[in-house]
Amino acid sequence: MEWHDASYTVSDDRARLDARAIHDYLSRSYWAMGIPLEIVQRSLAHSLNLGLYVTASGEQVGLARVVTDRATFAYLCDVYVLEPHRGRGLSKFLMRCVRAHPDLQQLRRMLLVTADAHGLYAQFGFQPLSRPERVMESADPEIYSRR
Ligand SMILES: CC(C)(COP(=O)(O)OP(=O)(O)OC[C@H]1O[C@@H](n2cnc3c(N)ncnc32)[C@H](O)[C@@H]1OP(=O)(O)O)[C@@H](O)C(=O)NCCC(=O)NCCS
Repeated sequence: MEWHDASYTVSDDRARLDARAIHDYLSRSYWAMGIPLEIVQRSLAHSLNLGLYVTASGEQVGLARVVTDRATFAYLCDVYVLEPHRGRGLSKFLMRCVRAHPDLQQLRRMLLVTADAHGLYAQFGFQPLSRPERVMESADPEIYSRR
């Protein structure tokens, strides 16, 4: 699948992904600080990835990664737009593509975790957990910084 606006393209083509550029960003992100390149590559290999590209140059400037069975459930993560391209509606463009993707229709649940971008996702149908007492996690946030 591919979507275009005036200057940018969103594509789910795994072959177009620039794993090094993705790793450059994620390894300094607040949620995956220090993540090794090999783990980024493995995560991309097993996910539905929507890359955001400058149409003219092909440079990758953003990502939304979706871990999913493409039938019942999806987990949206690793959403970013590189700093020089922010404030132009590009994360909303990415989210429109996530919502429109044919493999992500009729899911029973889609989850995400965010520190401060609730207002972005609220524009695309996400709400706080309706029954947080039913949700549990097994988390290791320091996993990369300990290595
Ligand atoms: C969050 C991020 C993806 C937004 O990208 P962007 O292309 O600059 O955002 P857009 O121009 O599409 O606008 C985002 C919309 O969400 C809203 N928003 C809510 N929380 C926000 C936040 N923390 N950061 C940016 N926008 C936010 C904005 O107000 C805007 O809505 P509006 O146009 O109706 O005012 C980008 O700032 C980024 O990569 N941040 C670092 C990584 C990150 O925090 N990712 C989210 C992790 S869950």
